[in-house]
Amino acid sequence: MTTEMWNAVDDYFSRGLVKSDPALDAALDASSQAGLRAINVAPNQGKFLHLLARIHGARRILELGTLGGYSAIWLARALPEDGTLVTLEADPDNADIARKNIAVAGLTDKVSVITGLAAESLEQMIASKTPPFDFIFLDADKVSYPEYLRLTLQLSRPGTVIVADNVVRNGKVADMDNDEPDVIGVREFFDMLAANPATDTTAVQTVGAKGWDGFSITIVSAPPGGAGA
Ligand code: SAH
Ligand code: DHB
Ligand code: MG
Repeated sequence: MTTEMWNAVDDYFSRGLVKSDPALDAALDASSQAGLRAINVAPNQGKFLHLLARIHGARRILELGTLGGYSAIWLARALPEDGTLVTLEADPDNADIARKNIAVAGLTDKVSVITGLAAESLEQMIASKTPPFDFIFLDADKVSYPEYLRLTLQLSRPGTVIVADNVVRNGKVADMDNDEPDVIGVREFFDMLAANPATDTTAVQTVGAKGWDGFSITIVSAPPGGAGA
């Protein structure tokens, strides 16, 4: 198997099944013009996240790691009229580009881009008793996934779905000799989930435009006292 073949299949799915969308195309163009790294989810993955949020009937979505807003637009498009998405981004330049892209998509009323370290924004949301989210997408720095799990569980309710991106990283996650901080972060994230009786999790590997990687998916089954910290 070659990466050319993986890319060809992603292109085939994206061409055939993921309708071209001017706002999403514009978001990628503007992100690229601004020099952002093209580490956004692939189009077929964006639609996958969108479908998961719709299947779940999510009304309140939380994202960690906005970049240029590409996955945020996919997820916000899954929301009902009165739904909201909050997305957290450390880099103010990325956040500005994302806000513009989200405006072009006509989603400004539904989406808040919060600039700052995700952990700090989460602490503030917990302190201010922000209502729980229905669907949470973890996609900021991987080293902090354990911290993000601890915090986002406190912004969850029974039934909250947590999806995490980049949990495979070319198979490094299962190489116990690998001690890169990102890899250790993802492994500790899985250890926490495995040990937490108030969560149910699986993970699937993906190949394609993003190389060899994968998503995990978790459903929270107990209230924050039980599921959380
Ligand atoms: N979800 C996006 C891609 C996110 S890339 C998409 O698919 O379209 C990861 C993003 O996380 C980058 O923009 C990076 O600046 C941001 N990030 C890294 N560390 C962070 C932190 N500590 N807090 C918040 N955001 C962070
Ligand atoms: C990186 C981050 C991502 O969220 C991703 O999907 C791919 C790569 C990165 O930081 O390299
Ligand atoms: Mg990612």
